[in-house]
Amino acid sequence: MEYSEKVLEHFMNPRNVGVLDDADGVGRVGNPVCSDVTEIYIKVEDGRISDVKFRTFGCAAAIAVGSMVTELAKGKSLEEALKITKDDVVKELGGLPPEKLHCSALAEALHAAIHDYYRREKSR
Ligand code: FES
Repeated sequence: MEYSEKVLEHFMNPRNVGVLDDADGVGRVGNPVCSDVTEIYIKVEDGRISDVKFRTFGCAAAIAVGSMVTELAKGKSLEEALKITKDDVVKELGGLPPEKLHCSALAEALHAAIHDYYRREKSR
């Protein structure tokens, strides 16, 4: 199995790892194929993602996906961040081996975190 250089780089040196104790939204997504899990935490200021962290109980590709999707989301408006797809993440990573494409589904934890933020805002 061949990973792109970018995948290997994000796997070895992942960005935005951790949790935000005072997060405004938290998304947790399980992968239906392998049962691995990713959590994404967001802080929102003036409608933008001012900070974002992730943690995953997943494979090397899952770590690279979490690192890349958080990099793509940082500083974006919530509307822009909702448009980031798992295919965008795979593209930015220079592709994933076919047998690891399903790992990109964990990027959807970003959308789950944004929906959690909207839910919390509504119930305020
Ligand atoms: Fe489960 Fe990659 S094998 S996320």
